[in-house]
Amino acid sequence: MLAEAAFRLLRKMPPETSHVLGLRALALFPEVSLEDPALRVRTALGTLRNPVGLAAGFDKTGSYATRLAKLGFGYVTAGTFTASPRPGNPRPRLVRLREQEALLNAMGFPNPGIEEAVRRLSARRGGKVPLMVSIGAVEIEEMVRCYRLAQQVGDGVEVNISSPNTPELRSYLSGTKFRDLVEALRPIKSRPTYLKVHPPIEGLWEAVLSAIRVWLDAGFEGVTAVNALPTEDRRLSTGRGGLSGRPLFPLMMRAVNELRRRFGWEFELNAVGGVFTGRDAVEALSTGANTVQLYTVLAYRGPYAVRRILEEILAELRARGLNSVEELMRWVP
Ligand SMILES: Cc1cc2nc3c(=O)[nH]c(=O)nc-3n(C[C@H](O)[C@H](O)[C@H](O)COP(=O)(O)O)c2cc1C
Repeated sequence: MLAEAAFRLLRKMPPETSHVLGLRALALFPEVSLEDPALRVRTALGTLRNPVGLAAGFDKTGSYATRLAKLGFGYVTAGTFTASPRPGNPRPRLVRLREQEALLNAMGFPNPGIEEAVRRLSARRGGKVPLMVSIGAVEIEEMVRCYRLAQQVGDGVEVNISSPNTPELRSYLSGTKFRDLVEALRPIKSRPTYLKVHPPIEGLWEAVLSAIRVWLDAGFEGVTAVNALPTEDRRLSTGRGGLSGRPLFPLMMRAVNELRRRFGWEFELNAVGGVFTGRDAVEALSTGANTVQLYTVLAYRGPYAVRRILEEILAELRARGLNSVEELMRWVP
């Protein structure tokens, strides 16, 4: 098939070239028409056709949301967008770790800036699949500006304070800065809003948990867990970046378990990190996730990964004698 052959070719190219060309080639891929009522889940974003979302960072341009939705996602995330345009870090900033089915990235938020992104996202057609807009800023004032604009086009917003490539974001995790952020965002909130957090890391996780407590007490809908794992590697121009893919799965599951144990069942939890199969998705959903999100699997298994995962979820439901994903989520209050 043309699309499969194109993907095989892309995998031989340097990863960032392959990503950019892959996005352009999306027009070649036929729309995935897998609609099964058994896959539907109700979330603050609306009733999703399935619980599998596209994670932040895949479309950093804001130009591909509609085409990416056609791969079968229940919702797509665009961004992360910052207050001003940014070129990102010098290359190489993306490395494949093939044997581990993982990626190392030190992208550093290359993006056109929130204003241009909003213009592009407003122009998207056929947006029946909900759109999440991811924003990030070190300064509270800038985050507020991004939040206002993101809510004009997004069905939901993800507030990213956990990029491994912008270490200054960690300032939200000390002193009163996170409380100040919450106080600045809460009065202007008009859309479901999720906090994107770090994986459980020694020395940081307790501060992440405290921030989540403040976030949920303020009435925000939920949390997206987890971002890539900070890792040092000399192959990246900056000497360090974030690890994503298979090796992240156990850390993501630990986060899901711990967040449910600590904060109960009333908030929404998007699980992201190393989800490669329907079984991975089912494990996260049956443990406490409302949705799962994908990124690295697309780099290794190609655009049909979404369809395959949805089919595997349906097979897993049948094997368990369940009629729907929501039955799988028996923990839902
Ligand atoms: C190249 C690359 C760029 C990313 N950019 C962002 C980003 O801009 N914002 C964000 O919140 N997460 C970003 N992420 C993290 C993903 O959204 C996700 O949390 C992480 O990759 C774990 O999921 P995965 O194992 O399925 O890839 C990026 C990941 C990769 C690999």
